[in-house]
Amino acid sequence: MTRIVVVGSINMDLVTQAPRFAGPGETILGERFLTVPGGKGANQAVAAARLGAEVALVGAIGADAFGRQLRQGLAAEGIDLTHTVQLDGCASGTASITVAGGENQIIVIPAANARVTPAQVEQAQAMVALADAVLVQMEIPLETVAATLRLGQRLGVPVILNPAPAQKLPTDWLKLARYVTPNQHELAILLDADPTETDSTKDFRDLMQRTPCPVVLTRGAEGAWYRESGEPQHQAGFKVDVIDSTGAGDTFNAALAVFLHEGLPQAVRKACAAAALSVAKLGAQGGMPTLHEVETLLALQAS
Ligand code: RIB
Repeated sequence: MTRIVVVGSINMDLVTQAPRFAGPGETILGERFLTVPGGKGANQAVAAARLGAEVALVGAIGADAFGRQLRQGLAAEGIDLTHTVQLDGCASGTASITVAGGENQIIVIPAANARVTPAQVEQAQAMVALADAVLVQMEIPLETVAATLRLGQRLGVPVILNPAPAQKLPTDWLKLARYVTPNQHELAILLDADPTETDSTKDFRDLMQRTPCPVVLTRGAEGAWYRESGEPQHQAGFKVDVIDSTGAGDTFNAALAVFLHEGLPQAVRKACAAAALSVAKLGAQGGMPTLHEVETLLALQAS
C-alpha cells in the first residue's frame, strides 16, 4: 500500500453559499451555511486516504469543540494522528469561505496551525522514512515547511511542496522539493515575478522553465502543465459541473502523491480526474473521490 505523510493545516471551514460575492460595505442574503472540516493539510490527508493510501498527518488542533470534531473526522477516515497535537489554551484553525457560482473566497485564521513546529516534523522521522511521498503546504510556519523539505532530502523521500497560500520562498528551499505544485498566481509569487506575467500560456510556460525544481502547474478546468526537464507538457482537464471548487487543489496534490510511482504523466492525469470529481459537492472534503470513482471516470474517458 502507498504510504503518504502530510505535514499541514487542519481547519474548520465556515462555508456560506451565496448567489454572488458581496462587495465592500455591502450586505446580501446567502442561501446556505455549513460547518465542515477543511484545512489544506487535512484535506490532502483525507483525499489520499480515500484514494487508498495509508496516511499520517503531522499537524495541530486546539483544545476546543472544533478540535475534537476535526480529530474525530480525520480518525474516521483512517488517518494516523500520532503526530497531530492538541494544544491547550489554543483555538483550532478556521476558514471563512464564501462559495458563489462555483468560485470561492477564503480567509484563514491559522490559530493552532501557527504552532506546528520543526520538532514535530523531526519526531515523525521514522514515519517519513517509510513513506513513498510527503506532502506539505504553506498554512503552517515556513520554518516547519523548510524542516519538512530538509527531512525528505536527508531520508531520500520525495516531498511535494504545494506553495499555497502564495509566498516567496528561498530558491534553495525549492531545490529540495521533488515537485512544486503552484497555480499560475502562486508560481509568479514564488519566483518573485509579476503575477500579471502569468496571463498567457507563453508567460507561465516561461516561468515554469525558471523554476529550480520540477513543477506541476494546476490550471483548474483547463487541467495541468508539468515539467521535469525540457518543454512543459499539458494534461487536459475533465469536464464536470462545478458546485464548489474548494479543495480541488488539495485533491490534485493528494492524487499526485498517491500515483507518483506510476510516473509523472499518469500521476498528473489521475490527479486531474480526482480534482474534477472533487468539485461536484459542497465542502472541501465533500466531493473527494474514492479510487474506484477515479478509475471509473478514467475508463469512461478512454471508451
Ligand atoms: O484548500 C482549501 C482549504 O483552504 C480550505 O479547506 C480552507 O480550510 C483553507 O485552508
